[in-house]
Amino acid sequence: MKYMSGNELREKFLKFFEERGHLRLPSASLIPQDDPTLLLIGAGMAPFKPFFTGKMKPPSPRVTTCQKCIRTGDVENVGKTARHGTFFEMLGNFSFGDYFKNEAIEWAWEFFTKVIKLPVEKLYVSIYQDDDEAFDIWHNKIGLPEDRIFRMGKEDNFWEHGVGPCGPCSEIYYDKGEEYGCGKPGCTVGCDCDRYMEVWNLVFTQFCKEEDGSYSNLDHPNIDTGMGLERLATVMQGVNSIFDVDTVKAIRDKVCEISGKKYGEEHKYDVSIRVITDHVRSVTFMTSDGVMPSNEGRGYVLRRLIRRAARHGRLLGIQGSFLAKLSAEVIEGSRAGYPELEDK
Ligand code: ALA
Repeated sequence: MKYMSGNELREKFLKFFEERGHLRLPSASLIPQDDPTLLLIGAGMAPFKPFFTGKMKPPSPRVTTCQKCIRTGDVENVGKTARHGTFFEMLGNFSFGDYFKNEAIEWAWEFFTKVIKLPVEKLYVSIYQDDDEAFDIWHNKIGLPEDRIFRMGKEDNFWEHGVGPCGPCSEIYYDKGEEYGCGKPGCTVGCDCDRYMEVWNLVFTQFCKEEDGSYSNLDHPNIDTGMGLERLATVMQGVNSIFDVDTVKAIRDKVCEISGKKYGEEHKYDVSIRVITDHVRSVTFMTSDGVMPSNEGRGYVLRRLIRRAARHGRLLGIQGSFLAKLSAEVIEGSRAGYPELEDK
């Protein structure tokens, strides 16, 4: 596989879908607009809910974006592992009542195998348990053998985010290799270990989750796909974790420079280095979108992330203020994709 930088991968993805009739839109703000069910944007589809439901007319029936996202549900694990983070970029292509499963699956496969040239034998997929249509496309059109297609339940293969548009999904997994596996008999797609990594989620957005928890049919079926850029970059850069990916590593290196600590030498320092590296990305992007530290809501999320990062700075022995210097590094590395970082 050919090494690709994060910025190169983002551009390749957006261009691929532009060539297939999608309008490229800039990332929406991390602050949800008119959506009280969400504190922060945590998926590429979130800013588009009114387009899926038909409440608003989209600027184009096909859209592609790289959306800045924050998910803090796992914040306690950040740093402790090499895979948790609160900030990530999500690549996505969307159809609002236009194309459906066939094109979504065929293009995803084409992008993976023809554009970035992932080895076919490393790819596996999952589908929602009853989704025979998706099975048929993967098996008969794409030609994936039956034993590489896994049927899973609602927990794994049904996607929803607060109330609103949702639906069954099909995920593409990348096999990182035996050395990442748990070695247990039966280790395969869906195992808790690190071997089979979910890379791209294709959601067939057909339903609307109501406030009371019930589901209704949307007027038209849609497509919502999401792929974590940093995760994809680990594959293309042959590295083990998101903290080793070029754009993220630049921040990690700066944390090491400021603290005088080396990454990979002592576990407790690695934890702190990873916490700071991740949190300063979230904090910088949130601040540029106008979030201010406060006692509640998203302002509290911001305050908590700043405090956690600052505390881990002390644990590394850093004296005085240092987070602003790291923010400068975040801006430098990401301003090409997100001009608002420099503007604001
Ligand atoms: N909305 C889907 C996700 O975030 C694609 O996984």
